[in-house]
This record gives sequence, C-alpha cells and structure tokens, in this order.
Amino acid sequence: MKLFTKTLATAVFALSVAMPALAADYTMRLSHGDNENNPTHKGALKFEELVEKYSDGRIDVQIFPSNQLGSEQEVAQALRMGSIEAEILYTGNLVPLAPSVGVMMLPYAFTSNEEAHAAMDALKDPLNERLPKEAGVRVLGYFEKGFRVLTNSEREVKTMDDLKDLKIRVSKNNIAIETFKSWGLDPIPMAWAEVFPALQQGVIDGQENPYTTAISSKFYEVQKYITEIHYLIWSGPIIVSERFYQGLPEDLQQALDKAGVEAAQYEREVSAEETEAAKEKLVELGMALTGAPEDEVKWQEAAKALWPQFAADIGGAEWVEEATQIMTNAIATQ
Ligand code: MLT
Repeated sequence: MKLFTKTLATAVFALSVAMPALAADYTMRLSHGDNENNPTHKGALKFEELVEKYSDGRIDVQIFPSNQLGSEQEVAQALRMGSIEAEILYTGNLVPLAPSVGVMMLPYAFTSNEEAHAAMDALKDPLNERLPKEAGVRVLGYFEKGFRVLTNSEREVKTMDDLKDLKIRVSKNNIAIETFKSWGLDPIPMAWAEVFPALQQGVIDGQENPYTTAISSKFYEVQKYITEIHYLIWSGPIIVSERFYQGLPEDLQQALDKAGVEAAQYEREVSAEETEAAKEKLVELGMALTGAPEDEVKWQEAAKALWPQFAADIGGAEWVEEATQIMTNAIATQ
C-alpha cells in the first residue's frame, strides 16, 4: 500500500513537471507608444496583472511598448479590424479615428487633474454608446498624466510674442493644430515616434507633453526651456477592439471592464507621484522652468474662441453639447 502511494505521488509529480502550464483561452496584445519608464507602461503592467487575475488566467495580456506594433493611429485602425486587441494612446492621437473622444481635447476645459478625472469617468459610458460604431473600439478606463507643458531649445517663452517663428510639433489632429495657430504659430503635426529624432536633428525646436514624458523620453538632452501652458491635460483611454470584446463570454467582458477602471486609478496615482519629481529632475538636469505665461489670459481667450469651430472635428454640435453638459455636471459634483 505504502509502495503504491509513493508510486502514485511520483507519477503525479512527474506529470506536473512534464506538462506545460495551461494555455490561456485568449491572447490580448496591448500596444502603447511610451517607453518602459513612463507611467503609461506602469499602468499597462497593472492592467495586465488585473486582467490575468480577474479572468483566472483565461486572458493572457502581452504588452508591446514604444510603438513596436505600429504608430498610435495604425494600431487604432488594426483594433477596428480586430487584428490587434488593445491599445493605450493619447486622446489627441485617437481623435482623427474616433472624433467623439475629442471633447477631452477642448483647450482649457480643465483647471486640475481632479476635474479631468471627473469628466473622463462620467464620459466613459456615453462614449461606449458611440465608439463601437464610430471606430470599432470601446474604452475600458482612462489614464491621465497631468498638463502638457511646452518645451523648446531656442528661448524662454514668457509671452505669446516669444513663440514667434518657433517650429513646434503637435499631435496629428485639428484641435492641436488650430489651437497653436490661434497663438500665431504654424505648428508641425508629427507622429509621436518621430519627435525625439526631429528635436535632435533640429527639424523642430519644441513640442508639448507632460513632465513625466519629458523625463522618460530624455527631452532634457535636446530641449532647454519649459513653459507651463495649462491648455490641455494628457488623457489616454485604454481601448479594446469591439470585435475582440464581443467575442468574449460575459464574465470575461466584466473582467476587462473591472481591470480597466482599476488600472486607470493606479496609473493616475503613479502619475501624480511622479510628476513633481520629474519637474525637479528636469531643472536639476539643466532645463529652465518659466512657469505660466505672463499673458496666459490672452492664450486662453484665443484658444477658447475656437470651441464652436471644433464641433465638426469632435462628433458634431449635438454630441459636443451633450458631452460638455456631462463634463460640467461631473466637475460640479466631484
Ligand atoms: C503625443 O504627443 O503624441 C503623446 O502625448 C505621446 C504619448 O502618448 O505619450
């Protein structure tokens, strides 16, 4: 009897060593454009951990940072087709394909991170009524990285006049382009992956992105001056291909929904912690911090005057009215 038990135990042990871990039922490739030092990647890792936990390992998330699967807009197209499953990207890079998300891009709509959180959380469900039809994707959660700050290699920008003739890169969407035009510039729309080499080669003098990105992308090596222009908060949805999502059983859809909300919460906390440290580090590394422009009201007035003209780029006047009402209520009751 003893011998039998021992033999059985040995057989079970041998089997468990020989058998590979059970394969997941679904693979979810998740693309993003930042490197592994950026809060986006840290939030992506949390999302992976939570999806695998809530799905009991039935969904295997594989993260591809630094645009390894293609540019933000190429990957968003692939999500529509169902050939890639998920992506985290700056709203400004999604808006040409999914105009309704553009309400998060209205310049000077938010005065704090908390306002942006209230707005994006309130917009998630209404957006999920529209985005599956509009772009073949849905939002699982919204990352946030603080205000985008303007950096350049040429001069201190204290007033709008100081912008004169600077070659500033913006993300490829009409709202960013027109906003910078309203400040007297002729901005250069460019894909994110091209920005560092373009700064290095002097093709552009400056760009705008959050503090944490200025650190993780080593902009201090090629940029000297920072101005806190406060026009836009970096918001970035975790999006999933609607085809992939609809192909999942309901319990796994719920696992994704839950993981998306919790990963976003985690990423916002990481970003808030890292933003102040990034700002200090950039100064330590030799960048000159100017603060807000002296004539900031002038910048605000010029950009806000464009809101009515942006309606066509962000889902039409009716949606913009509905969405701005949702955002206003959410901010008022936060
Ligand atoms: C951009 O400027 O294209 C984005 O903010 C880059 C990013 O997603 O970090």
